[in-house]
Amino acid sequence: MNDILTIAIDGPAGAGKSTIAKRLAKDYEIVYVDTGAMYRSVALYMMEHDINLDVESAVVEALSQVHIRIVYKDDTQNIYLNEEDVTQKIRQQSVGEGASKVSAYLPVRKKMVMMQQEMAKKTSLVMDGRDIGTHVLTDARVKIFLSADVMIRAKRRFNELIEKGASADLQMIANEIKERDHRDMNREHAPLVQAKDAHMLDTSNMSIDEVVDEIKKIIEMR
Ligand code: DC
Repeated sequence: MNDILTIAIDGPAGAGKSTIAKRLAKDYEIVYVDTGAMYRSVALYMMEHDINLDVESAVVEALSQVHIRIVYKDDTQNIYLNEEDVTQKIRQQSVGEGASKVSAYLPVRKKMVMMQQEMAKKTSLVMDGRDIGTHVLTDARVKIFLSADVMIRAKRRFNELIEKGASADLQMIANEIKERDHRDMNREHAPLVQAKDAHMLDTSNMSIDEVVDEIKKIIEMR
């Protein structure tokens, strides 16, 4: 076994992937790569340039103008789109939906996957997304598939927004999550699916600590 520790975490929107991945990265002192942020940055570029996200040829044509760079500051991933720090901007709900659309296009996926695989060659990391265990890091030491009941995922998002002082509608959030899951699971290229060798954890009734402990047990068994 080589010394590089690679952990792949996949699952639907709001399953807790990033919270869990950040905790693992901190505890194992490895890098956390949020691949959703990369697809979000592609979507943001298209949105800011009035490119119709539903027209694949238009998105693909503009793709060569998209330069993404990941920089770590104080162990936190910052993402640059054509030299602008878009770490905060890409968190908007509309950008998440846009990311779900542009990520269905093969040339977009190829470009992102290449960058992701390049990062994993050099360093130990925990990477989260939708296709990490199935396509990006097929040899990952540990693969985890996180899921949770859709209403519970919606409630988590709802609470996050309320905590930030934003207004939110639980049913609307649930509908958006369902729509995004449907698109991510039914696309032609690298759809969201559990890898055969992934450990599935339903986090509906688990605390963050419980999920982290469970994953650590799995890692330590490998
Ligand atoms: O995890 P997220 O909400 O930031 O992801 C935004 C969208 O990007 C998601 O709906 C699907 C897409 N995505 C993907 O197709 N593959 C990945 N590895 C990560 C995200």
